[in-house]
Amino acid sequence: MQTAARFTQQLAATVGRRGFHATSTSNAKVCVVGAAGGIGQPLSLLMKQSPYVTELSLFDVVNTPGVAADISHCSTPATVSGHTGNDEVGAALDGCDVVVIPAGVPRKPGMTRDDLFNTNASIVAGLADACAKHCPDAAFCIISNPVNSTVPIFAEVLKNAGVYNPKKLFGVTTLDVVRARTFVAENQKFDVDTVDVTVIGGHAGTTILPLLSQVEGANFSEEDFKALTHRIQFGGDEVVQAKDGAGSATLSMAFAGAEFAELVLRAQAGEEGIVACSFVENDITQAPFFSTPVLLGENGVEEVFHYGDLSPFEEEGLLAMLPDLVAQAEKGVDFVKNRSK
Ligand code: 2OP
Repeated sequence: MQTAARFTQQLAATVGRRGFHATSTSNAKVCVVGAAGGIGQPLSLLMKQSPYVTELSLFDVVNTPGVAADISHCSTPATVSGHTGNDEVGAALDGCDVVVIPAGVPRKPGMTRDDLFNTNASIVAGLADACAKHCPDAAFCIISNPVNSTVPIFAEVLKNAGVYNPKKLFGVTTLDVVRARTFVAENQKFDVDTVDVTVIGGHAGTTILPLLSQVEGANFSEEDFKALTHRIQFGGDEVVQAKDGAGSATLSMAFAGAEFAELVLRAQAGEEGIVACSFVENDITQAPFFSTPVLLGENGVEEVFHYGDLSPFEEEGLLAMLPDLVAQAEKGVDFVKNRSK
């Protein structure tokens, strides 16, 4: 297994950010599932702007025709189709290369992501059934919360259908990286376009662990180190509170989801050296799914990197989060075991 040092070198070479450059082209069909929702709409718009998308398929249970008509007027090459409800899910998913899934309900103030489990678990499991049937070979990027459980749910459903490919199932943790870049750049007066932060673990509170000790050229005071870590871990709550009942992060989540989906597309198109943090199956820790830098290739995850050296504070954070990550994954697996379709 490679270490973070090689990862850092590769990352410096890649600067794998959205919109930075288009060195490859592709002929990809992408479906946004939950396209009419708070994340889905801006995410669909961003995917329409991607030079890597030729066919953009928008699926939701309501309001898809309006969103599809609206986005289809944007003057970029991707064709757009809208699909509504279970009868049309097959047409939405057939032939997809990448499926991005922000479907589900968002948090309200005072809720944790885990509080969404009861509603979103069934939504995600149902969508996984549809994906297993209509586009088993696609890369799946899961945004629906709680990611720490919905990704294991998706995996179990695909396994039961005999089509699970661990290299192509991703929990999107890019928003944690996006927040980390922003807050670190502000704090260190760095250029936000070039700063990068490895964020490991999961996508909920203390399971989000930014590795600030690895940020090149940074010099954090002890106080800033702890405050920044906390802000990155609970950045989602900042948005939930500011929206005051109107939901959770949608625009920044769409930005992050589009960045990650585009990296997957660029790798599928043959671009080499694309590395990004993602919540994927691996055995780096005792958690079955764990976000760590991965090398993306034409067929999904090509290599899972070890996250490298941790400071004592980060080591403590990692040890503390692992039981939660394991329990949240088990909760997802149990849900699928006990589910009646
Ligand atoms: C967040 O981190 C919505 O989970 C998303 O804000």
